[in-house]
Amino acid sequence: MAVADLKRLIAKIEDLPTLPRTVLRITEMVNDPRASARDLARIITDDQVLTARLLKLVNSSFYGFPQRVSTVTGAIVLIGFDAIRSLLLTTSVFDLFPSRTSRDRRHQESLWDHSLGCAIGAKAIGEVLHHEKLEELFVAGLLHDIGKIVTMTMLPEQFARISSRVIQNRLLIADAEAEILGCTHADIGRLLAQRWNLPAKLMSLIEHHHQPATAGAWAVEASIVHLADILTRALSLGSGGDDKVPPLDRSAWQLLKLKTGALDAIMAVMLDQFDDINSFLR
Ligand SMILES: [Fe+2]
Ligand SMILES: [Fe+2]
Repeated sequence: MAVADLKRLIAKIEDLPTLPRTVLRITEMVNDPRASARDLARIITDDQVLTARLLKLVNSSFYGFPQRVSTVTGAIVLIGFDAIRSLLLTTSVFDLFPSRTSRDRRHQESLWDHSLGCAIGAKAIGEVLHHEKLEELFVAGLLHDIGKIVTMTMLPEQFARISSRVIQNRLLIADAEAEILGCTHADIGRLLAQRWNLPAKLMSLIEHHHQPATAGAWAVEASIVHLADILTRALSLGSGGDDKVPPLDRSAWQLLKLKTGALDAIMAVMLDQFDDINSFLR
């Protein structure tokens, strides 16, 4: 990619949408040890859409509480601050990128399905591994390919060229991006995460989801997202932009120490939860 083009790309990325104020405030509050469930509830109840989505989520089979939860404070107490943040990020992020054409919308919808599949998969793998931060894995899965949305909506010409390279040369989308942009959606996603002041760990998981061993202290989490990405492709949940199932990174597999049989159980969970979660998050 020519230097001028790269500069133009970065300049466009500078124009990226910012996260809604409510989500920012909630993100700050989740990190504030003095904040109480009631403080958080006050912010959420100001926003009717968020309130409705939150109550729908806690009453869904995803959480499976035996009794109906009817208040925001109750929901916060039951699912916790981290889960609230991940829900709100989940429901806000994809709204930030308007699709101009119906083809854009189709691409975005299949990317959403792919991202959600990966999020559910990352959480399911985390459960098998008794990982402590399941919500964090869910969010990382959901945002791992966010860089693709940037190209799709902000660099439409380049995106069209990338798509036709993928089809004509039967390439993985990341390889076509590298040829045309000189960088991949992982690099672009990292820039976006940086701009949104997302936690360093999340930023790193987005950046390294294709080469998880390079994620340093977070290599295990990056490997989880990497595996979830591949399982999502194997199950054809949505589309990541090409129809390939890339090989699993060998060091990721060694790091996770999963039994081969565990993969079937994880994929069954993914299929089981996908439609359910999709129907109330949209
Ligand atoms: Fe990716
Ligand atoms: Fe992906």
